[in-house]
Amino acid sequence: MSHRLTLRRPDDWHLHLRDGAVLAAVLPESARHFARAIVMPNLVPPVVTGAQASAYRQRIRAALPMGMDFTPLMTLYLTETTDPKDVKAAAKVGTITAVKLYPAGATTNSASGVRDFDRVRGVLETMAEIGLPLCVHGEVTDADIDIFDREAVFIDRVLDPIRRRTPGLRVVMEHITTRDGVDYVTSGGADIAGTITMHHLILNRNHILVGGIRPHYYCLPVAKREEHRLALRAAATSGDPSFFLGTDSAPHVDALKESACGCAGCFTATNTLSILAHVFEEEGALDRLEAFTSLNGPAFYRLPPNADSITLTKGDPVAYPAKIATADGPITVFDPGFPLLWRVAE
Ligand code: NCD
Ligand code: ZN
Repeated sequence: MSHRLTLRRPDDWHLHLRDGAVLAAVLPESARHFARAIVMPNLVPPVVTGAQASAYRQRIRAALPMGMDFTPLMTLYLTETTDPKDVKAAAKVGTITAVKLYPAGATTNSASGVRDFDRVRGVLETMAEIGLPLCVHGEVTDADIDIFDREAVFIDRVLDPIRRRTPGLRVVMEHITTRDGVDYVTSGGADIAGTITMHHLILNRNHILVGGIRPHYYCLPVAKREEHRLALRAAATSGDPSFFLGTDSAPHVDALKESACGCAGCFTATNTLSILAHVFEEEGALDRLEAFTSLNGPAFYRLPPNADSITLTKGDPVAYPAKIATADGPITVFDPGFPLLWRVAE
């Protein structure tokens, strides 16, 4: 049994960095391990133009501590008034790497998302033409659809029709949480990929609700039944190039999580790699961890894998901080509920 594992340096293909004080506090947690990340645009107000993405990228670069090396890959928040010409121009100069589709009201800060998918047809056609990936939050928002069914219904009612109507559109179905999502990506051909978070490999819905409500395990899409967690584990550890890591690390200060109406999001940047090594070892798939964290994502995004590497070693339990301090208040680090023996060597 190997106690040492060297991987190409990983990337995070779905990350929330926020802005201001929270950005400053959480950015080093990602930059310590990850070389690049697809940065979500759901700020308040959202990042909707190329100029705003460029300004946000500047703020991220300015917040990066000296000596750390990290490349933010920016996204635009798709709205019904997004201008295809702005998208094309921002992609051409490398300001953006993808466009993000939030169905209106699906999750945190998604009020400006898309209601009428016909109204974004022009943007999607432009994206198909230039090969720019669409990152999709795959949940319907209809009040009559049960929250645990929203991903499966989204595939049938929204995602599949969009893909049929827009041939060549390259889609990342983000943070898939169901067997339906796994099956759709697996059978969807070269133009679709799926990201999987670390926490959806750990949690099922019981973990959120049994024995008391656990606000730090509440995220969107919400964790589903155990059979779905097992399907995600099988997909992530399969080596199938369609699946790669997007942590969806989504910091909210504790006051906003531990509340009568708590925000969705798990903050996982700090210990994701350590927990993933644990999961892949449990599944007998440590030899496929690098594909998931470091190779499949760049291949889909048509970027080279990182040239440098990281080393994970297994030993005594690692004590990760329980919380990260920010000027806005503490943020709780995801607790997997079991000891972590894998650490990223300095
Ligand atoms: C994200 C956030 O907090 O911005 N929350 C989450 O539960 N994942 C939004 C999102 O990606 O859905
Ligand atoms: Zn997210």
